[in-house]
Amino acid sequence: MPSGVTASGPQAHQRVSRRRFLVSALALGAAQLTPLPAGLVSAQPKVPARPFTLGVASGYPIPTGVALWTRLAPAPLVPGGGMPPEVVAVEWEVATDERMGQIVQRGTASAEPSFAHSVHVEVEGLEPGRWYWYRFRAGGEASAIGRTRTAPAANGAGDRLRFALASCQQYEQGFFTAYRHMLADDLDVIIHVGDYIYESSWGRDHVRKHGAPEPHTLDDYRIRHALYKGDPDLQAAHAACPWVLTWDDHEVQNDYANDRSEHLHAPEWFLQRRAAAYKAYYEHMPLRRQMVPFGPYMRIHARVSFGRLAQIHLLDDRQYRSPQPCAAPGRGGANVVEDCAERLDTRLTMLGADQESWLQVGLDRSPARWNVVAQQTLMAQFDRKLGPGQQFWTDGWDGYPAARRRLLDYLGRRKPANPVVLGGDVHSFWVTDLKPDFDDPRSPVVATEFVGTSVTSQFGRRPEDVEALLTENPHVKLANGTRRGYLRVEITPDRLRADLRTVRSVARPRAEADTLATFVVEDGRPGAVRG
Ligand SMILES: [Fe+2]
Repeated sequence: MPSGVTASGPQAHQRVSRRRFLVSALALGAAQLTPLPAGLVSAQPKVPARPFTLGVASGYPIPTGVALWTRLAPAPLVPGGGMPPEVVAVEWEVATDERMGQIVQRGTASAEPSFAHSVHVEVEGLEPGRWYWYRFRAGGEASAIGRTRTAPAANGAGDRLRFALASCQQYEQGFFTAYRHMLADDLDVIIHVGDYIYESSWGRDHVRKHGAPEPHTLDDYRIRHALYKGDPDLQAAHAACPWVLTWDDHEVQNDYANDRSEHLHAPEWFLQRRAAAYKAYYEHMPLRRQMVPFGPYMRIHARVSFGRLAQIHLLDDRQYRSPQPCAAPGRGGANVVEDCAERLDTRLTMLGADQESWLQVGLDRSPARWNVVAQQTLMAQFDRKLGPGQQFWTDGWDGYPAARRRLLDYLGRRKPANPVVLGGDVHSFWVTDLKPDFDDPRSPVVATEFVGTSVTSQFGRRPEDVEALLTENPHVKLANGTRRGYLRVEITPDRLRADLRTVRSVARPRAEADTLATFVVEDGRPGAVRG
């Protein structure tokens, strides 16, 4: 054997020095070591123009990395997204500057037609607690440049975490102006707690239309996600910082519970619909690859750590829950009930046994000063009946009081540091004291709750009716459904500050924002006070 190595294939006639071969092999990465047969080189299919219509996103930061996302969809609102049904190689790169001058990581991922040409990349080997920029290339075109951030080192103290909480963005009911204002908030992460898309058209004063009936198939759900992702403010927010997410019901169907559809369809039929909805969700979000769905099952509950300052425990209260108790005859889904013994059944679960113990173990082991439990809906009890007797809405935790009590008793007993529960779903702001027994004034406050209002989705009740009910519910410090917006939170070692941010109108794309109220939670003292 001569001192050079012989390449095969189209370059068989070339002799490359061993040293030069090794240098270029190192530069290219191990995957490029095997020479490709001539035919495969031209196998990269032609990518239609403007494939990056849905933007870029990142999520789930760890100290050494982050998940990156994009999807090739030159025609996002048709089945197949306008792409040829072939695998396409997509290059990605990560830089330490916004002009992509100092590239620190790069690679190639495959966009597969079976996953709607979505791309999920998990970047590793980055430095903790700093900003990075990233972009993708395919078919000779480059995506927009996104910005993302790694989490602080696991043992790092971290002096500040800023995030926004978003939920409930019915596309027809308004522009996603809330996200435009988040861009000015200097956020480390955005938390979305569900109703990212809506399957149904409802409400009044539509500013735009879904333009399609309720989705049932995988193609239907893909097109609905693509429609929402086309919103420029939403795209800009995804490109501005990493997100972490959980879903609520409307990503599949209103009020569904586990395999139980609102319309009591056969479970095996409904699970096929759920599988389609979950897959489209995965394909459109900056999720970790380990979250990839298997049929109708997809593990989305997750834990995200920000050094010793904060840990976010993201829950899924849809996939594993018991059916809502005391549904109306012949129906599934939520109901407003007064005397419902079934509601008190201790076997009812909101999280399922596995996730419930996963949460408790995680809280027990958490090294963080602040433990943020981000989930879908209002956790505090809310009696909806004036005067004697109590009325409850069964889709929230009020439908599952024994499961709620298990969690709140646990918080009272084990006392994890500074538990703060975040929620969405109810299209209104709520600030509450969480107590194991809401009917007992002596029951201790074991956690603080903030529910963020909707990005756009309408709130159906009169403000004075909600206000009047506060006398029945002394643990509720604020309940306000008059405005759309988001919750902005800043955590420092000694306190948490929450600003209830509202947009003046969702009918105008550039409407101004205001702060409706500010609340503060001090370290070691559960319960928010007005700041
Ligand atoms: Fe909603």
